[in-house]
Amino acid sequence: MKIWYLVPVVFLLFQCQKENLQYETLAIAITTEAKSNLQQKLMSQMKEGGTRQAIPFCHENALRFTENLGNQKAVSLRRITDKPRNPKNMMTEDELKIFSLVKQGKSKEGVYPNQIVRSDEVVTVYVPIVITGQCVGCHGKANEITKDTKETLAKLFPNDRAIDYEIGDLRGLFSVTFKK
Ligand code: HEC
Repeated sequence: MKIWYLVPVVFLLFQCQKENLQYETLAIAITTEAKSNLQQKLMSQMKEGGTRQAIPFCHENALRFTENLGNQKAVSLRRITDKPRNPKNMMTEDELKIFSLVKQGKSKEGVYPNQIVRSDEVVTVYVPIVITGQCVGCHGKANEITKDTKETLAKLFPNDRAIDYEIGDLRGLFSVTFKK
């Protein structure tokens, strides 16, 4: 077999991998910024007025904030999940499939992989959102959520599905879409 026929194929594969890595690196930078900004806002609201203030604040601002940060970075940025608190963050059928791939890909150390999906026009990088000790007061088991928090949640989110998580659970994904 004349192996040099394969040279352009290998070259293309290599280019594609290099490009994926560049998109992944950018997506990690953007989602790290989003996470740390959201957490800062959350913490300062909690300090000021506990969950009674932080929950409505999240409801009024989290979606818009994420969208705006995406616009600033010239990407479409969303936080999506299979068990939404805000129904607007529900995953599509395709996103649910990617979510289950990420879930299955969990390493022995408990790390979830990123996923990259390419089409002709766009590249989407999915970055895992994992539950930490900071989240369980609003997303944990019934005994971890105070009565006050439960009441505030029930008022704003009558169909809330975003509870019963444990530390280390996959809560959702950031979806970062780049136009090629
Ligand atoms: C003070 C309570 C509170 C805490 C603490 C909290 N969240 Fe939330 N979370 C909310 C509320 C309220 C929403 C709904 C926001 C909206 O209406 O857009 C939400 C929505 C989300 C969403 C979007 C998907 C959905 O269900 O609508 C993700 C992802 C999420 N939270 C992850 C986390 C993670 C990870 C942590 C810990 C680092 C955390 N949250 C801590 C209250 C909280």
